[in-house]
Amino acid sequence: MIDLSGKSALVTGGARGIGKAICLKLAAQGADIAFVDVGRAEVAEATVAEIQALGRKAVYIPADVTDPEACVKAVATAVEAFGKVDILVNNAGITRDDLIMRMPIDDWKKVLEVNLFGAFYMIKAVVRPMLKAHSGRIVNMSSVSGQAGQMGQANYSSSKAGLIGLTKATAREVASRGITCNAVAPGFIVTELTKDLPEALQDQIKTATPLGHFGTVDDIANAVTFLASDEAAYITGQVLAVDGGLVMM
Ligand SMILES: NC(=O)c1ccc[n+]([C@@H]2O[C@H](COP(=O)([O-])OP(=O)(O)OC[C@H]3O[C@@H](n4cnc5c(N)ncnc54)[C@H](O)[C@@H]3O)[C@@H](O)[C@H]2O)c1
Repeated sequence: MIDLSGKSALVTGGARGIGKAICLKLAAQGADIAFVDVGRAEVAEATVAEIQALGRKAVYIPADVTDPEACVKAVATAVEAFGKVDILVNNAGITRDDLIMRMPIDDWKKVLEVNLFGAFYMIKAVVRPMLKAHSGRIVNMSSVSGQAGQMGQANYSSSKAGLIGLTKATAREVASRGITCNAVAPGFIVTELTKDLPEALQDQIKTATPLGHFGTVDDIANAVTFLASDEAAYITGQVLAVDGGLVMM
C-alpha cells in the first residue's frame, strides 16, 4: 500500500474538483497538505476540514498561481508549516473555450497564464528546496486535450501540451538529484469545469471512450498519488493517461 507518512504535499487548485480529491487521497495515505486556490474561501475551508478529519495537517493558501511572487510565498508558507515540500501537484487550471476566429486575445493569454505559466512559477519556486533535500515528486495536470488537440480549445490544448514539454524538460533537469517530474492526462472527468459542456459533445466523448464512461476525480487522484509515492521512484518525464482509453499514443 502507498505510504506517504511523514511527507508533505503542496497542491494548486486544491479547494474543489480534481485538486480536492488529490488533497484527500494524499492525506488518506499519510501526507500533510498545503493547497493554493483563488476560489471562494468557504469552499477551501470545507476542504481543510475534510483533510483534518483524516488526521492530517491542512494549510489553505489563498493565492493566484499567475503571480510569481505569490508562488514563491506559497512554497515558503508550506516549508514553514511542514519543514519541506516533498510533493508538488500543479493542478490549477481553467478553460475559456471558443473557436480561434472568435477567441478574445485575453482568453488566449489567461488560459496560458494559469495552466502553463502558473505551473512553471510553482516549479521554479519549489525546485530549490527539493534540490537541497535531494528528493521530490512533481506532478503536472495535463489533459487529453493537450495530447490530441480539441476544437474550440486552442488556448487550453496549447497550455496542456506545453505542460507536457515542461514536464519532460523539468524531469531531465532535476533527475540527478532524485527528483521526478511526471504528468497525468485525464480524459473527461465530471467536475464544475466540465459540467456545462454541451450534451452532444459529452455523448460524443463517451462514445469515443473505449471504456464507455466518464472518469471520476478519484481515478485521477489515484494516479497522482502513485506518481507521488516511493513506488514510482523509477518513473520520470512520463505522461500517464487516465482517460478510459480515449487517447492511445
Ligand atoms: N475535469 C476534467 O474533465 C479535466 C480533464 C482534463 C484535465 N483537467 C484538469 O484538471 C485540473 C482540475 O480540473 P477540475 O475539473 O477539478 O476544475 P475545477 O474548476 O473544478 O477546479 C479547479 C480549481 O483550480 C482553482 N484555480 C483556478 N485558477 C486558479 C489560479 N489562477 N490560481 C490558483 N487556483 C486556481 C479553482 O479555484 C478551482 O478550485 C485542471 O488543470 C484541468 O485542466 C480536468
